[in-house]
Amino acid sequence: MEHVHHALQLGQSGEQGFADIKLIPNCLPETSTELISLQTIIGELTLSSPIIVNAMTGGAQETEEINKELAVAARETGLAMAVGSQMAAIKNPEVASSYRIVRKMNPRGIIFGNLGSEATLEQAEQAVEMVQADAIQIHLNIMQELIMPEGDRNFMGMLERISLITKSIGVPVIVKEVGFGMAQESAAAIIQAGVKIIDVGGSGGTNFAAIENARRSLPMDWLNDWGCKTAVSLLEVMNASKALNSESQSDISVIGSGGIRSTIDICKALTLGASAVGIAGAFLRTLRSEGTSALINQITDFHQELKLIMTALGAPAIQNLWNAPVVISGETAQWCDVRGIN
Ligand code: FNR
Repeated sequence: MEHVHHALQLGQSGEQGFADIKLIPNCLPETSTELISLQTIIGELTLSSPIIVNAMTGGAQETEEINKELAVAARETGLAMAVGSQMAAIKNPEVASSYRIVRKMNPRGIIFGNLGSEATLEQAEQAVEMVQADAIQIHLNIMQELIMPEGDRNFMGMLERISLITKSIGVPVIVKEVGFGMAQESAAAIIQAGVKIIDVGGSGGTNFAAIENARRSLPMDWLNDWGCKTAVSLLEVMNASKALNSESQSDISVIGSGGIRSTIDICKALTLGASAVGIAGAFLRTLRSEGTSALINQITDFHQELKLIMTALGAPAIQNLWNAPVVISGETAQWCDVRGIN
């Protein structure tokens, strides 16, 4: 609950880098809003919407209420939804109901489990079983752990555990960052470990350095701008994916997340090559300040507006957005030059 409170208090004022991305209008789109499909595919999963309610919470009474309402909104709008880290329930099964509520409210929906990279295969299997998950997210959050006085200090064997889970678990594995972003070198290692879905979790939205600093008696505020912005993270991960795709023909799906707050953010992330976007903080804010029906309305508006922009770009399907031209300027363009991304 401290994470929820601090996430809401600190808000979403950061820059995710999408201001540097300009979509190019298509004056002859040769499509109609009726023809626009929001369906998308990540790994083996077909989603009716490219928007995912990203991992947030579970593990306590009040978080059960939040998960319940998020699950209702996801059910009513057809969104896939991730629960927060389930390690609390693996260590203390009494709190499992705060996660199971999501499956209870949305029996036929697409639900993702969630654990950190310290998880063993057995724990990952328990997490999947707990919510009858359709996929499992494994989160990477190095800087958050390091800022927490009680956080992990040993990051050995992460890739090996991820690789074992990916090979053995029987549901798709999504490796995700939590808002510090991802570089192409890390993405390449993750892909080579067999992972087919990566959520870039870039900076510019919920800021876990700032959240953990707000909880510390001696804050290390100089770490608050640690990380790669979301736009840059997407370009980094897409570059790694493209390079390896041409070598191995493997199909990698990328999820854009970190500070997604508006329809134009969603559209820009998809245009940069994402198959879907994850939204956490912005949905939590709407839910807590305005309630579940406001959240349902927000998601419905996103869907309708996304169809309008896709029409204006002449892109009847999400995959068509990948070929829509964009201009990348400013810091993001400079970053791409330095990092050999084209
Ligand atoms: C999170 N996030 C998160 N991620 C994860 O993999 N496991 C978790 O348990 C949590 N917990 C959590 C709690 C709260 C209150 C928030 C707001 C977020 C991170 C989340 O899934 C996402 O990666 C980041 O928040 C960045 O996206 P937004 O919030 O900028 O859309």
